[in-house]
Amino acid sequence: MRYKIDVPATTANLGPGFDCLGLALDWWNTIQVEPSETLCVKLRGLTENIPADANNMTLENMRCFFERIGKPAPSVKITMTNRIPIGRGLGSSAAALVGGLVAGNLLAGEPLSRFELLELANELEGHPDNVSAALFGGFAVSTFEGARVTSASVEPPRAWRAVLFIHDHALSTKYAREILPKKIARADAVHNIGRAALLTFAFLTENVELLAVGMQDRLHQPYREHLVQGMPELLAAARAAGAGGAALSGAGPSLLALTASPQRAARVRDAMRDTARRLRVNGETHIVKLSVDGARVTPLK
Ligand code: HSE
Repeated sequence: MRYKIDVPATTANLGPGFDCLGLALDWWNTIQVEPSETLCVKLRGLTENIPADANNMTLENMRCFFERIGKPAPSVKITMTNRIPIGRGLGSSAAALVGGLVAGNLLAGEPLSRFELLELANELEGHPDNVSAALFGGFAVSTFEGARVTSASVEPPRAWRAVLFIHDHALSTKYAREILPKKIARADAVHNIGRAALLTFAFLTENVELLAVGMQDRLHQPYREHLVQGMPELLAAARAAGAGGAALSGAGPSLLALTASPQRAARVRDAMRDTARRLRVNGETHIVKLSVDGARVTPLK
């Protein structure tokens, strides 16, 4: 049997929801996979620094899946079309992880549910925010204790758009996590709890007005700002041009603004582009729809 698996880009944290909130974007990596006598890996799209052999991350994750179910991993013929920019805070590694686990599960006859795949993905990734949105789609809230993950996701408002400023360089998530303080002040925790709850309410009630406060953060963004060129100016420009709210996308360096409509998104994109030019910050701006779907599977003949 041959399968096509589409896995969405995701943006995590959305400001206050450090390691807990994620949102699926309408921007997809595609995998085609089938059992084969010998390993055959083909890469398309963004291929720089991606191994086209057994060291490929998607294949490593597939092997983790088979290790978990206690069966030998079959050799496969796999074609990967990578569109999600790598190392930019848009969930490219979560997409490789979810792609590998979903592919393994299909080839094994689906012994695990998506929730079990989420728990395995969380164990491998260390936090469930991107992987949950990549598996279930929409706006996903996840929390975990040890290996146990509780997660729920809702359909995002259809008219809302994500405006992304994507820097022309990558940022290591590992490094962007290492620099965070180990302890936080209670006032900062309270600040973020209220905002994360408000942000969830914004999605549930489609109330874009709540995003301005609901996307504020004190747990990670202040410590990461110096790693991201033009961050305060670009976020301020997005808000001034009519974004409901704006924040660092995941661990960065990309920046995310959410808007109530495509028209407003165009204004926000232009403002971010102009500001980046003025500051001589290199990168691209994109307007992206939000995705109701997480990883999609199509059986092929
Ligand atoms: N939530 C994680 C972080 C990364 O901010 O470090 C998500 O990609």
